[in-house]
Amino acid sequence: MITYNGSDLILAPIAGYSDAGMRTLCFRYGAGLCYTEMVSAKGLFYGNENTASLLHTDPEEKFTGVQLFGSEPDIFAEVVRYDQINKFPLIDINMGCPVKKITSNGEGSSLMRSPELIEKIVRAVKQNSQKTVTVKMRLGIDGLNNATECALAAQEGGADMITVHGRTKEQLYAGKADYDAIARVKERLTVPTCGNGDVTDRESYLKMKETGVDYVMIARGAMGRPYVFSAVKENDYDFNVKEAVLFHIGRLTTFLPENTVMNVMKKQIACYVYGMRGSKAIKEKAFAAKTLKELTSVFD
Ligand SMILES: Cc1cc2nc3c(=O)[nH]c(=O)nc-3n(C[C@H](O)[C@H](O)[C@H](O)COP(=O)(O)O)c2cc1C
Repeated sequence: MITYNGSDLILAPIAGYSDAGMRTLCFRYGAGLCYTEMVSAKGLFYGNENTASLLHTDPEEKFTGVQLFGSEPDIFAEVVRYDQINKFPLIDINMGCPVKKITSNGEGSSLMRSPELIEKIVRAVKQNSQKTVTVKMRLGIDGLNNATECALAAQEGGADMITVHGRTKEQLYAGKADYDAIARVKERLTVPTCGNGDVTDRESYLKMKETGVDYVMIARGAMGRPYVFSAVKENDYDFNVKEAVLFHIGRLTTFLPENTVMNVMKKQIACYVYGMRGSKAIKEKAFAAKTLKELTSVFD
């Protein structure tokens, strides 16, 4: 079985959040593998410049996977040969995004309508890349719980690991992730499986492990809380919001213009201070900041 730095913990792809700064912090706290935000295969193919910053990695990052979304096997086959993708040791294919802008193009969770297409896409990536290939999906689409069928198709195409988020496309983020359904998918697969959904602490981590999954992926539980990877293992850790925010800003300024850093960090700061005493005032000041200097001074 593939192991990622000896850890079974994975930071999920999180559009708008799992940037190089957040990933570096998550690695420091014990994540074994971190994913980039989702990147459009078509965007890469047509040379969209917006993808460049999404593909930036920090020198300190240990094992980062790039997540691609798309629907055309030929485009996947082409872009996975690009140097910007080849620098990653692992490629993930998004088959879970429920956002209309994505699904209306037949991408993200829409792929779960066609296990045949899933197999073709995974095979196209495997045949054109030497890298580990993973797939991330939901429990089903259109009222069907067809994750097992889709996961078997991905496995047939050559996927090295399959992540299942325990909700259907229609559920979006409502209700609780269904761990029993994840266990049923896991049981049918021979490749390693990763469970995802609602893991935020040791208790939920252990519950997810009871499903038999090999890996556990965390998204919302890591936003503003990179220490969650230590917390679930009951490892000692220090966490200081000010230090984390300043570190995060520092990393982003190495590759993003000031304005973009400010926009990204305002959202990240809302997560870092969530639940803290005085968080409302800090957020207001942060959101009012007009320069990076003003933004960092909020934490003085
Ligand atoms: C703001 C936000 C952005 C997300 N972006 C992505 C993405 O780019 N790719 C993806 O596969 N899933 C994405 N997801 C889904 C998460 O990776 C994860 O599957 C979901 O949040 C459930 O896990 P959790 O309960 O640990 O948050 C996103 C979720 C959130 C909340």
